[in-house]
Amino acid sequence: MIELNFSNMMEEVIGVKGISERRLENLRDKIESAYKQIVQRKWKELEFLDLPFRDTAQIKKIAAEVRDDSDNFLILGIGGSALGPGAILEALSPLHNLQKSPKVFIYDNVDPRTLKQILELTDLKKTTVNIISKSGSTAETAAAFMILWDEMKKVLGDDAAKRFIATTDPYSGSLRRIAMENKMRTLPINEGIVGRFSVLSPVGLLLCEVIGFDSDELLRGARDIHEKCLIHELWQNPAVMFSALLYLMESEEKRNINVMIPYSDSLKLLSGWFCQLWAESLGKLGMGMTPYPSVGTTDQHSQLQLWMEGPEDKVIVFIRIDDYGADITIPASFPDIEGMSYLSGHKLSELIKAEEESTELAIAKTERPSMTIQVPAIDTYHLGQLFHFFEFATTYTGFLMGINPFNQPGVEEGKNFTYGMMGKKGFASRKSEVETARQKKVCWKI
Ligand code: PA5
Repeated sequence: MIELNFSNMMEEVIGVKGISERRLENLRDKIESAYKQIVQRKWKELEFLDLPFRDTAQIKKIAAEVRDDSDNFLILGIGGSALGPGAILEALSPLHNLQKSPKVFIYDNVDPRTLKQILELTDLKKTTVNIISKSGSTAETAAAFMILWDEMKKVLGDDAAKRFIATTDPYSGSLRRIAMENKMRTLPINEGIVGRFSVLSPVGLLLCEVIGFDSDELLRGARDIHEKCLIHELWQNPAVMFSALLYLMESEEKRNINVMIPYSDSLKLLSGWFCQLWAESLGKLGMGMTPYPSVGTTDQHSQLQLWMEGPEDKVIVFIRIDDYGADITIPASFPDIEGMSYLSGHKLSELIKAEEESTELAIAKTERPSMTIQVPAIDTYHLGQLFHFFEFATTYTGFLMGINPFNQPGVEEGKNFTYGMMGKKGFASRKSEVETARQKKVCWKI
């Protein structure tokens, strides 16, 4: 089971920059209200809590077909529809495309260079395309789908639809309509599932199965942490404690940057996934915490100086791995050179763990706060726990802040301008706004 060690957040350990037990106790009423909203299911978007208990038969069936008849698996999606699958791929199957089939491509942008390269590298006759879009209308995903549809039609004609899977709302949206009309395979993202909370739905589970991992293990991990995250006691519930501490650090100490630093390359994208969840859910009404995705030990040599001696506006969240599942002993290559020989005989896992612990200690010595999530191993089971833990923690934090963590009104404005510029019906006024703004920009250019 993953564990949260929050000693280095506490006043008893790091001094006055830490949080006292009394301050946590004072938060009890707010915590109670947040807890009630969750257990009483006050929001329909809390449906993500049910995902660990869902059946995976349909997902397994489609994944088996993909593994059987595809050399490539191409995901088209963006934001919550792409980051979860990306995090699963990188955590469970690093360097996947160099050694395994089907190769996986996740196209989560509209950069023409990337898509051109993907098209050049893949034989479409042996490619399955999974379009992931809850709304079924996101411009980036729609554009990529239209291109792939056209290309697939050129090579397969009327059989093109057989190479597509639509992962989308089960009842509404343009993608659902196209999927039905063309008899594509489909997987549901239910109405109550918000994109960034969808990793344990078919959005993440299909990819998990396609790359040869058991999605039931992901869900089993999530179910086990689910119980802990519902314990009705602050001092025993890791998600509530994580949220309460970061909430106090932001609201009372102005520490509004949260660095997420896993000590593993395989969890780089998990940290990217967390950043979207944290930022898009909590950045509202002038509040929020800026998540910063990082990786250890690499960023010790790029960011650590700032965290140690820069502005006092951060909380560092370490992710420490117990068992890397692989190891290498550093050989006695240069026994006479003291600057190197001290490393001989030690394992790489020893070195990375020593660096993590040393960095925790060094930060604590400056009396700056940090927490550590301890992960027994990077496997399907514990990955499920991490995902579900962070989803719980984000929700609790949103409720402590008194905001709706499930919407993203700020994202809509930019989308509407794009619709206007691309000529979507009903958005003409947005186009004129863009043109007026362009005039202003002309004067201030060097
Ligand atoms: O978390 C979210 O809701 C967003 O990041 C969405 O996932 C993203 O905008 C893509 O939306 P959709 O799945 O509707 O294409």
